[in-house]
Amino acid sequence: MVTTTESTAYETDLDLFSDEVLLEPFEHYRELRDMGPVVYLKKYDLYGLFRYDQVRNALNNWEVFSSAQGVALNPIANEAWKNSILCMDPPEHRKIRKVFDDALRPKFIRKVAGDIEQQAETLVDELVQRGEFDGVTDFAHKLPVSIVMDLVGFPRDEGRDKILGWAVNSFNFAGPPGERQTASLPLAQAQLEYLINNAKPENLLPDSFGKVVYAAADRGEITHEEAVTMMLGYANAGLDTTINAVGSTLWLLARKPDQWDAIRQDPKLVPSAFLEGIRLESPAQFFSRVTTEDADVDGVTIPRGSRVLHSYASANRDERHYPNPDTFDARRNPVDILAFDSGIHTCPGRTLASMEGHALFTALAKRVSKIELTGEPTRTPNSITRGLDTLPIRVS
Ligand code: HEM
Repeated sequence: MVTTTESTAYETDLDLFSDEVLLEPFEHYRELRDMGPVVYLKKYDLYGLFRYDQVRNALNNWEVFSSAQGVALNPIANEAWKNSILCMDPPEHRKIRKVFDDALRPKFIRKVAGDIEQQAETLVDELVQRGEFDGVTDFAHKLPVSIVMDLVGFPRDEGRDKILGWAVNSFNFAGPPGERQTASLPLAQAQLEYLINNAKPENLLPDSFGKVVYAAADRGEITHEEAVTMMLGYANAGLDTTINAVGSTLWLLARKPDQWDAIRQDPKLVPSAFLEGIRLESPAQFFSRVTTEDADVDGVTIPRGSRVLHSYASANRDERHYPNPDTFDARRNPVDILAFDSGIHTCPGRTLASMEGHALFTALAKRVSKIELTGEPTRTPNSITRGLDTLPIRVS
């Protein structure tokens, strides 16, 4: 690390996207926060924001920190996603955003996805009977997969299994150039082809998001290309993020029996505890923006045209904002976390993810007094997301 002049960023040689750092990132994030308000990541030619205030301020200033040149960390993904809502500034963003907002209101979700609480109760009943299960594949996967696939309207066939694999892959596709990104390319192509060939309007479930966006395209409000991109974005954004949030929160609770006891005694703590799990593990660790002019961040100049990475995960553990940031506190209720972004791109799926998480952990709190790990969880490094692959659990 070298310091140049006061108005330029601290520089680091740290490889933020190495497997080693992605698997154990939090100590590195703390060091990056301590270096200064802006850190230049030499290996990736990226300016990085790691502190809470700086990340939130940038996210709320889309005129300077723009999404229009893409939010991914490589040019191939930014070109492929150029019609995605993620990669738009106003006024284009407003038109597409309205379609997402309408389709992610609780009323629409309940109409299409049915009784989420009942689905959670049925699943947890079955898992409690088994006693031992996998906290990711048996517990965290089920609701997001069936609900998001129904909402988008994908036919209920074997294509659904592929879609989940593609969604995980799409986040590596958005990472910096390197092995993980190269390996993701064929799968990203396969996903697009599946959508174009199989997710045609006539194949989609009635009343689904897919039907809504194709109808908007037929009316000329959006193009058909935009309709396909929206379905792709919805599936990619809504699956792995929620699965990671649920799996990670279960893992944290298995290691904190006193916190689980508190939740069982007062199940009204479930929403706060679920947010706390998301704060600590941040299912999406980072995205990026490009500066439209020289940007002053606490006295440090980021030159116009620079790609700026913002770390939700580091901001959510910033000791300047949260006391004892590394401690899981079921009562903290961190409603201001940045894990769902902030500003105009704030996640429109936050309500849906919360409905799923609350339903699952409430059903568990009614039936289970003890959550124990029966082995080591596993995780694969991903360029954007953080979550477990497997989580061996026993409940009683
Ligand atoms: C715990 C679960 C989730 C987390 C942590 C999460 C996180 C995020 C983040 C950080 C962004 C902003 C990205 C950026 O601006 O660069 C975002 C946007 C988005 N999310 Fe989520 N998300 C979650 C669940 C969902 C679900 C369930 C859906 C839909 C089914 C969804 C759909 C979207 C969409 C469509 C956007 C783009 C919004 C825009 O650009 O205006 N997300 N999400």
